[in-house]
Amino acid sequence: MQPKTVHPESISAQALGWIDEATRAITPPIHVSSTYLRDADNQYRTGRVYARADNPAFDQAEAVLCQLEHGAQALLFASGMAAATAVFQALAPGDHVLAPKVMYWSLRNWLMTFATHWGLQVELIDMTDPATVKAALRPGRTKLVWIETPANPLWTVTDIAATAQIAHDAGAFLAVDSTVATPVLTQPLALGADIVMHAATKYLNGHSDLIAGALVTRSDNEHWQRVRKVRAQLGGTLGSFEAWLLLRGMRTLHLRVRAACTSAQRIAEHFAAHAGVAEVLYPGLPHAPGHAVARAQMQGGVGGMLSIRVRGGEAAAIAVAANTQLWKRATSLGGVESLIEHRASVEGAGTPAPADLLRLSVGIEHAGDLIDDLEQALGTAHR
Ligand SMILES: Cc1ncc(COP(=O)(O)O)c(C=O)c1O
Repeated sequence: MQPKTVHPESISAQALGWIDEATRAITPPIHVSSTYLRDADNQYRTGRVYARADNPAFDQAEAVLCQLEHGAQALLFASGMAAATAVFQALAPGDHVLAPKVMYWSLRNWLMTFATHWGLQVELIDMTDPATVKAALRPGRTKLVWIETPANPLWTVTDIAATAQIAHDAGAFLAVDSTVATPVLTQPLALGADIVMHAATKYLNGHSDLIAGALVTRSDNEHWQRVRKVRAQLGGTLGSFEAWLLLRGMRTLHLRVRAACTSAQRIAEHFAAHAGVAEVLYPGLPHAPGHAVARAQMQGGVGGMLSIRVRGGEAAAIAVAANTQLWKRATSLGGVESLIEHRASVEGAGTPAPADLLRLSVGIEHAGDLIDDLEQALGTAHR
């Protein structure tokens, strides 16, 4: 019997409670077939033809994501970039799109090179100010507004409901990179967004052992059908084992995200007044510009990502990262292990990251250990 109220934690822990009917296994088998048998009368009644377009290995993870995000349909992709770029590739040359100045750098680079060469009119604006968004929209020409909240690497916050309303009034749709928020903290579709994107590589999987992406749509429509074709025809399709790993990772999503949020808040508060730190960027701090919006649209925390600006500039920041032991010096985010990164070195020219900024991805280790390690690294760097 199904319990009356199934909370999101229960949906992800049991992956919707599906069992494999053939074996009664409570974890799904891994379907690896690249092709499917055609019926004798030349039909494909299962709807499955070829695994570049579709794969039963995706069904359960896509269904779980749909439920968590309150969406109509979901699609898994070979990476977060494959998922994000599919949303833009499903547009037509000449379409105008708005994207944030502060966003995941690799997607920003792709937008300003490949997407513009292909004919999209890309404009980068300050998405934290609804008036700026309104002024930049070109009714009839702007097809898509892309936002990321909280956004790499400054953790700026965009008001999803306000931006959705403004975009819709101008005839555009809104897509949200919700990688950092995760469905645990924010459900953008319920706030009016049309598409949610996740670098599933990060929190959804959570163990730094997989590259994957996902999109969830509020409704099945023409653009979504083109997105589906982009995946099937360009081939940014996830592997079967990766889909299985992702489903396993999502079973502990809520526990991991809550633990990371609690520790990130504690770490942010601890270093906010630290002599070696010029500034802590984290929307959970009351003085942060995005604090009020974050508190209103996120539930149970504002995420496991924060940045610190180290006193002494670039050399001091790099020295702090060099001196950490528990924090691992590596790119990426959202895994169970905490990572530290000098972001300007990664992003290069055009980065909004100041030279003294270290990006911190808080994992699920003991918060006190993480604080002690940063304390000793900051002490060493300033000796
Ligand atoms: C916010 C955000 N969006 C998208 C991506 C791209 O994801 P992937 O590396 O899986 O392609 C990343 C990767 O770091 C990210 O942090």
